[in-house]
Amino acid sequence: MPAAALGTAEWYRHFGTVDAPGSSPCYAGWSLHIADDPELIARIDRWPYNKRQPLLMLAAARFLGAKVSPYPEFRAFLDDHWAEVSRTVMSRATQTNEVGRCAALLPSLAAIAAAEGRPLALIEVGASAGLALFPDRYSYEFDDGASVTRLDPGASGELQAGSGGRPGPPVHRPEPPVLRCRTAGPVPLPDSLPSVVWRAGIDLNPLDVLNPDDVAWLEALIWPEQEFRRERLRRAIAVARQEPPLLVAGDLNEQLLSLAGQAPPDAALVVFHSAVMGYVSADGRARFRAIMQSLARDRGCHWLSNEGETVIIQEDGSVVVPEMDPARLRGNFLLLHNGQPVAITGPHGQSLDWL
Ligand SMILES: C[S@@+](CC[C@H](N)C(=O)[O-])C[C@H]1O[C@@H](n2cnc3c(N)ncnc32)[C@H](O)[C@@H]1O
Repeated sequence: MPAAALGTAEWYRHFGTVDAPGSSPCYAGWSLHIADDPELIARIDRWPYNKRQPLLMLAAARFLGAKVSPYPEFRAFLDDHWAEVSRTVMSRATQTNEVGRCAALLPSLAAIAAAEGRPLALIEVGASAGLALFPDRYSYEFDDGASVTRLDPGASGELQAGSGGRPGPPVHRPEPPVLRCRTAGPVPLPDSLPSVVWRAGIDLNPLDVLNPDDVAWLEALIWPEQEFRRERLRRAIAVARQEPPLLVAGDLNEQLLSLAGQAPPDAALVVFHSAVMGYVSADGRARFRAIMQSLARDRGCHWLSNEGETVIIQEDGSVVVPEMDPARLRGNFLLLHNGQPVAITGPHGQSLDWL
């Protein structure tokens, strides 16, 4: 989210010229038209500042049925449905659950399981619907430009009793999504997927993979032209529905210690997060770092942080990577293991550049 000083029209213009063009010509076009539409901007300005963000408003319209179309048609849709758009904007938040990020985390998770010689217990903070809690149930293709390494769920992907989730409806195993990731550098690719014996998440507003409205909202958050992301989201939701994860509602700093106390003591505990710390204040991030330090000391817990360049939490609390050209990081995420930078990752897990 840009600085609070940015006016709404500028915000939509920025979204339409910087954020959207590479991913969604439709959103880019609509946003630029909105920026030049003072009557609509005045209506958006009646919402609280954090509700005026372009992605939230556009997703709300899509959630309610707006089709990819020329702007006049979209504008007419907004006029016809404004009360519902407002209600959706006020009751929802941008909680995109990008399952592709599992590809960026997988080599680190596998390395932790191998080093510890025991299966994993996972806690994701800022989990949305918890789809990243199933790295052992998805397929992967890591492409280093010369060859592709494929990993599929095997024995470790079988449903396991008592793995932390609520019992879901009995369904046959669905086709998992295939998470494709370009790699560079010495990525420690495993031979097989790590075993996960327990999984749980924390979110201010957990989304439920069994709730059709929540699922429709997750789909609406994907940009219109990105059909491949929608397809892998659907497949990941089908996987998660078999055994919906335990998701605790609340602030990550309030809930983490008690949830960690529920993890099986004989498993290697990993706390991880992606695209979350931008929503947490500097004080909240400092508090989170202190909690992670105590969990490392008392529980041998590992910490994987996969976040954008502006919110990087390193061991020393700094937000820069001294040895790195900042241009390399721009638009990407940095993956840290226990506060140490290990890789630059694509924001949707589409690339993994090992340091
Ligand atoms: C952009 S989504 C990312 C979801 C997921 N980590 C992923 O990568 O797909 C950010 C999530 O963080 C949650 N969140 C933000 N601040 C939080 C806090 N203080 N405590 C718990 N969850 C939080 C939001 O509700 C939202 O679901």
